[in-house]
Amino acid sequence: MVEEEEKEYEEFEKAYMHALSRYLNAFWFDEEEEREVLEVLRSKRLESKIGFKTKEFEELLAKYHGVKYAVATSSGTTALHLALAALGIGPGDEVIVPAISSIASANAVIYQNAIPIFADIDPKTLNMDPNSLAERVTPRTKAVIVVHMYGCPADMKPIMEVAMDHKLYVIEDCCLAMGAEYYGRKVGTIGDIGVFSFGSGKQLCTGQGGAAIAKDPKIGEKLKKLNHHYGIPRNGRFIGTADELGFNYKMSEIVAALGIAQLRKLDKLNSKRIENAKYITEKLRDLNGKGIKLPYVPPGVKHVFNEYVVQVEEEKIGLSRDRFWQILLSKGIMADPLFDTPMYLEPLYRNKIGYGGTKCPFECPLYKAKGGHVEYRPGLCPTAEEVLKKVVAISPHPGLDREDLDNIVNTIRSLVEGK
Ligand SMILES: Cc1ncc(COP(=O)(O)O)c(C=O)c1O
Repeated sequence: MVEEEEKEYEEFEKAYMHALSRYLNAFWFDEEEEREVLEVLRSKRLESKIGFKTKEFEELLAKYHGVKYAVATSSGTTALHLALAALGIGPGDEVIVPAISSIASANAVIYQNAIPIFADIDPKTLNMDPNSLAERVTPRTKAVIVVHMYGCPADMKPIMEVAMDHKLYVIEDCCLAMGAEYYGRKVGTIGDIGVFSFGSGKQLCTGQGGAAIAKDPKIGEKLKKLNHHYGIPRNGRFIGTADELGFNYKMSEIVAALGIAQLRKLDKLNSKRIENAKYITEKLRDLNGKGIKLPYVPPGVKHVFNEYVVQVEEEKIGLSRDRFWQILLSKGIMADPLFDTPMYLEPLYRNKIGYGGTKCPFECPLYKAKGGHVEYRPGLCPTAEEVLKKVVAISPHPGLDREDLDNIVNTIRSLVEGK
């Protein structure tokens, strides 16, 4: 028995290493990245305050998105926090976020001592449901963070209508969706601020890193000021006085150098992801709704497939979601349930732990003074709770070849058909 288990473990390890090697292939780093990084090392200007690469990367990001302002940050999380700070979100305010995302999307609200309020999702796209957003608005709501989940743009038209009706700021969390489009407009350019992450597995990868973009000069200047010098205004060599609370979230020069080279490849990398997703869908189309739901691509969007998300219909195939993804992984396929708990059911929220168990900011007197009270409990977003039990995210990353794609297709088919 022990021998059998050891053998099984060895096989699993082998399959996982295969999946990982393919995954690492997707990080398309070549002479361009080497040249850019070496240039920084040789210049010895490693901090953006005295270097040139971060500035260049910011200009290229702004140009790619057709906006005036871009600031590069140390991560998507810091970019989200910066965005909320730049919009003046603070204690007593509510910010509506979708029930599912990286927990960073909700935590950033807490960093500003504001209260995240969770909206339910559309079961087809897994993005924020505009109707649920409208239901969650109160006189305390100041902003909404829309997340373009897994590379699929959220339905921005009705979301912007709700925001306009209630004078809410809109932050687009594009951490999983750089280069995606909604009716011809790049994500991140529709709301007030667009936020990106460049961590591993993202559309553009620098290892760690992020950015925030804006069109409006007031917002753009604020992002710059808060990001770069602890909030202290700076004009060339002249440093002003500290007149507001700022941060030091800026990107380092080596990371920006990687970003410059990666940005040149972004559209090609996205095209390969889209092609891979299309291949899988075409080969499995006949199974859609017969044991598995394939990803839905709404009309008018360019979905950039950070993940290829399927929903396992356990009652039809007699196989649990967890067993399903574990089998995929054992066949050398990068698969994961990802974000399988709505954020509000994490102990941090459910028990209102907040800052060191103080229940701050959830029980903040400034919030109570505005009539605010929040409880995070099961049943708050029933669709998210239901759908998340079925979700398996499979990476359609650009490192996959035809053999890998056929392995994905054949493994899913055999699981669904029970062969
Ligand atoms: C939707 C979303 N928002 C925010 C983040 C946070 O980005 P980072 O890991 O760069 O801090 C992530 C990270 O995966 C994410 O997926």
